Formats: sequence, structure tokens, C-alpha cells
Amino acid sequence: MIPLAQPVLGAREEELVLEVLRSGRLSLGPMVPRFEDGFARRLGVRYASAVSSGTAGLHLALRAVGVTDGDEVVTSPFSFVASANAIVFERAQPVFVDIDPVTLNVTPDAVAAAVTERTRAVLPVHIFGYPADVAGLEPLGLPIVEDAAEALGAVSSDGVPVGARGHPAVFGFYANKQLVTGEGGMVTTDDAVIKERIDSERNQGRAPDMDWLDHDRLGFNYRLSDVACALGVAQLEHLDELLADRAGVAALYRDALGDVDPELALPCDDADGAVRGWFVFVVQLPRGLNRDATVRALAERGVQSKPYLPAIHLMSYYRERFGHREGEFPVCEDVAARSVALPFFPRMTEGQIQAVAEALETVLSSSRSLP
Ligand SMILES: Cc1ncc(COP(=O)(O)O)c(C=O)c1O
Repeated sequence: MIPLAQPVLGAREEELVLEVLRSGRLSLGPMVPRFEDGFARRLGVRYASAVSSGTAGLHLALRAVGVTDGDEVVTSPFSFVASANAIVFERAQPVFVDIDPVTLNVTPDAVAAAVTERTRAVLPVHIFGYPADVAGLEPLGLPIVEDAAEALGAVSSDGVPVGARGHPAVFGFYANKQLVTGEGGMVTTDDAVIKERIDSERNQGRAPDMDWLDHDRLGFNYRLSDVACALGVAQLEHLDELLADRAGVAALYRDALGDVDPELALPCDDADGAVRGWFVFVVQLPRGLNRDATVRALAERGVQSKPYLPAIHLMSYYRERFGHREGEFPVCEDVAARSVALPFFPRMTEGQIQAVAEALETVLSSSRSLP
């Protein structure tokens, strides 16, 4: 079976993890600032805070920009559920707006139309690593928290790397990401006050110069261990290669899938100077096709795939809690109903890519020939 994802871990990861194990400093040790400093340097941003997951980072970043009870946060319904959940953690309301059919991101116009006097922040998601138009959101004058969990390596059309614009931006290092630490995340920012608050709240609300037993604010345990940070430091050292390999696999996929079916939609090309940080290779199946049957048929041919992503507003929790229904965000719903993630990882071989393309072609043409 060709798997959906496969991390690249090598001798350098082993070496740095062993360094941590031998040091005995498994948490709150020197590997944490080493990973943070390397990450901030790499992006060209002032500060980075390592956290236990992308979800934890989103939660802390939203708190740091002041999101609280009853606020509204404008965001995308076409995302991993964590971006909306983090808003709900603070008893605020996610206000969804429909996505652009090409980039699959929210647009400044759609966001502007959803702003009310209760809007406290905007949470754009760089979905599938394609940069959202954050510069276009800045004139709204609202705090922005960027969900960059899928977008390491992406560059906005004005040449600024995603995560380097200065607003809090949140990356994720789950095992299928561009950079992996198993579980983990990073919040970047240019704001010293936000950095200080995130560092305290990830560590039970403790200030750096404070006695262990005293806490001046509510906090969480959202720390990232030194073992995870060691993986992060090692992965950063070969990030260029990891990203280039992913981009190479994406280019081969484009060639291989180009003629498979005229109604099969591939990920959008980079436009206007924007650069995607390749995370997943998601295609949209022709309309009217049975997606579950397609996924099953691909599995029978040795190809793992999965529906990706479902629309957040149509998940049962969001329907029940906020009263969402089908038809509210037609572009998102159409894309969410047709999207399938194909196997995608840096060391994918040309043979594996061809095998996926052939399996997909066979499955699509046989389902089209059904009555
Ligand atoms: C768009 C998006 N936001 C947030 C997250 C949450 O990150 P994590 O799984 O590290 O908590 C993910 C993770 O997959 C994601 O894809």
C-alpha cells in the first residue's frame, strides 16, 4: 500500500535526540530555545515560541490578541477543525465566510463583509500550504492570527514568507507536516508582549523570573519537550531539501495526472508571485462521482487516500452548537464534498506517483462507465 504520508528522519535526528537523552534535560532544557531561535532565524521573524501542538499555538495566539467571551472571529470553514475549535475554547464565536474556488482560502472582501462591531480578530488559514492574502486583510485594522499549520515554506505574493509578517502565525509539526516533531507547534511573532504572554501561558502562567509556586495568570501545559525540539532542530537543518523534494513530487504529480480526466481538478498553480509550501496533494473529483467508492477502489489497488477536508460548519458539533446548515457556504461545501488527498511525501518515487496516477485513471474511468 502506498501510504498517505511518510516522514524523513535520519542520522541527524538520532544524534540530537540522543544528545537530549544523555543530557537528562527532557523538558525546559536548552533544546527548546535552540529550536525556537533557529525557526525564527529561518523565517526572518523576531520571536518564535515552541508549543505542544498547532492547536495549542492557535489557542494561545488567540488569547494573546485578546479574544474572549462573546467575541467574533472571522475565519474559514474549509480548514482542519482545530482552527475553529481554538476560537470556541475562548467562548468566542467562529464567523465563517466562504472561500475562493481557486486558492481555497478566504478573501479580504469576504472577510470585510462579515466584520461586525463584535469582531475581535481574523483567523485566515493558509490551506494546503497556499498563502492566504494576509496583506489584503491588514487594512481592516483587526488583530490577525494566521493558521500556518500547513504552510511552512510558503511565501506570500509580496515576497514575505508566511509566518514572517509579524502577526502571530501558528505552525504545526504533526507527523505528516513539512517539518515533523511527532506532535508540536510554533507561534511566530514580532511582538515582544505577545511572545512573553505565550511563553508564560504555555507554562501554567508562570513568569520567567517567578517562584515555581506562584502564578500571576491562568496558564496551560502547552510545553514542547526537548526530545521533540531535538527532532525540530534536526529537521530545520534539512528543511530546504525536504521542501524541495515535496515540490518535486508535486510537479511530477501534475504531469502524471494532467490527462487522467478533464474534470479532475488539481491544486491551483502558484500565481502573482505566491509560492505554496507543499503539504498535501489534494485533488477534487469530477462532480457526481461517489467519493467513498473511489477511496475504496483506490485502496483495493494499493493506494491510500482520504476525503480531505470536510467543511467545519457541517460537522455535528458545529451544526448543533451554532445552527449551521447545508447551503451556507456553497463553494466550501462543493470543494469539501469532492476533495481527496493522495499519497504525498518527500521521498515518494516516480514509480509510486505513476502507480497512483494509473490507479486513479482506472478507477475514474470505470466509475464513469457505470450506468
Ligand atoms: C489547518 C490546520 N490548523 C490547525 C492544525 C492543528 O495542528 P495540530 O494537529 O498540531 O494540533 C492543523 C493540523 O493538522 C491544520 O492542518
